Amino acid sequence: MQDSPFSLGGRVAVVTGGGGILGSAMARALALAGARVALLGRTAAKLHAAAARIRAEGGEAMEIAADVLSREALLRARDELLTALGPPEVLVLAAGGNRLGATIAPDQRVFDLDEQEFDAVVDLNLKGTLLPALAFAPDMAARGRGSIITISSMAASRPLTRVVGYSAAKAAVENLTRWLAVELARKHGPGLRVNSIAPGFFVTEQNKALLVRDDGSPTERGATVLAHTPLARFGAPSDLDGAVLWLASDASRFVTGAVIPVDGGFSAFAGV
Ligand SMILES: NC(=O)c1ccc[n+]([C@@H]2O[C@H](COP(=O)([O-])OP(=O)(O)OC[C@H]3O[C@@H](n4cnc5c(N)ncnc54)[C@H](OP(=O)(O)O)[C@@H]3O)[C@@H](O)[C@H]2O)c1
Repeated sequence: MQDSPFSLGGRVAVVTGGGGILGSAMARALALAGARVALLGRTAAKLHAAAARIRAEGGEAMEIAADVLSREALLRARDELLTALGPPEVLVLAAGGNRLGATIAPDQRVFDLDEQEFDAVVDLNLKGTLLPALAFAPDMAARGRGSIITISSMAASRPLTRVVGYSAAKAAVENLTRWLAVELARKHGPGLRVNSIAPGFFVTEQNKALLVRDDGSPTERGATVLAHTPLARFGAPSDLDGAVLWLASDASRFVTGAVIPVDGGFSAFAGV
């Protein structure tokens, strides 16, 4: 029997933000499909918990503590990876997220925007995507083989009210995804691909207060999101499994520079 094009058996995968809610779920999916996964983030305890969950299910996972905004730390992380698992073939760039200070509260105006907070959210999402790619992709380029997956958001293509910095940053992540896709394929061959997953609304720590009340019912904003989501629910982390396995594996070998929404139809619906 032929190997499935979705197989990841033995491939080395790095997941930044691997201790986070969506990053750890994607790392789990990759590991259960046979990849040897390195979880990268700043907080050892979060990485450890996520890696332990993967190992408990029979997957292979290691932890690498590093800040995605430090090139030095990323180069050390790369050395650690090469020693422990070997060169990466899959890179999922899930470190990122919104910052409350870079949003405009209902009683604020955009003129009140905190410039430092704006910079911080752009840095985390944009440079926090670029710098790990610069650290890990040279090993992919050297072997002419690798799949890089960035994480965008519904905020990228149609800005969401209030989240000004994050929307701008994720729009830049999508542009960077396409730019890198073109650059890496043209200079390093068709085995190098770069795509993005744009999750819809998943209830996680960073957006929980915006979307759900303590009793579990949706806030006004959460209800608006659900009313614009044809599949009529928030996402669950495992909803990303199919997209990440497809993009990481040879099943998507002719796909590069694409942004794949996993959003219950939110981005397709005009609201009418
Ligand atoms: N939740 C949603 O609905 C949603 C929707 C669309 C897109 N997304 C995107 O999906 C990605 C994952 O989000 P999530 O919801 O899973 O959030 P999360 O649980 O907060 O995970 C984010 C992870 O990034 C890590 N991180 C943050 N800053 C870092 C840094 N400087 N260096 C290294 N790691 C860093 C955090 O760990 P440490 O703090 O320990 O470093 C954390 O584990 C983000 O890019 C987010 O923007 C989320």
